Amino acid sequence: MKFFVDTADVAEIRSLAATGLLDGVTTNPSLIAKSGRKMSEVIAEICALVPGPVSAEVTATDHETMLKEGRYLRAIAPNVAVKVPLTEAGLRTCKALSDEGTPVNVTLCFSANQALLAAKAGAAFISPFVGRLDDIGQDGMGLIADVVQIYRNYAFRTEVLVASIRHPVHVLQAAKLGAHVATMPPAVIRALFRHPLTDKGLEAFLADWAKTGQSIL
Ligand code: E4P
Repeated sequence: MKFFVDTADVAEIRSLAATGLLDGVTTNPSLIAKSGRKMSEVIAEICALVPGPVSAEVTATDHETMLKEGRYLRAIAPNVAVKVPLTEAGLRTCKALSDEGTPVNVTLCFSANQALLAAKAGAAFISPFVGRLDDIGQDGMGLIADVVQIYRNYAFRTEVLVASIRHPVHVLQAAKLGAHVATMPPAVIRALFRHPLTDKGLEAFLADWAKTGQSIL
């Protein structure tokens, strides 16, 4: 399973990239706004830090302008994936950009039929939002199960990128379903490392080691 971080905070990305476990980055207009920086500059900086795909989202809603924005964003760096919303114009743009060889991440997916359309439009990634579905009492992970099954049925090459992840259990469930990618806020990635028994065990090992008076080096 690939791990992407869902942020435009360059310091966080740099620190997570240093673990060697980060495969890519997703951003959206809200995350860019939160960074307080110019989009083209922040995307260029992120692309230099992480070799994997960095999703940069268009903000137009009509096909012609989305296409221009997508081409502009793609020209920032070779590892930019253009993110488009799951609308009719967005999927038309997805098809056009994909035909040009640009990887497209189709975002704001909330149904399996929408995911089916995105795969037919040649998307490199589909982003179903599990947390936002859970928030309104619907089954976010049920959607992931449906999309994974449908894509397998037809051998679509579109990768299922589980988005709007809120906690480590979402990551576990997505991995068990065989989703290709999880994009997570930095705090969720950091939470994956931790277990209280790891902390307790390490503390005991180090206390016993100190009693020996030895040093490995
Ligand atoms: C995905 O690409 C989105 O940026 C993100 O996962 C949305 O998450 P949210 O619902 O926590 O805003």
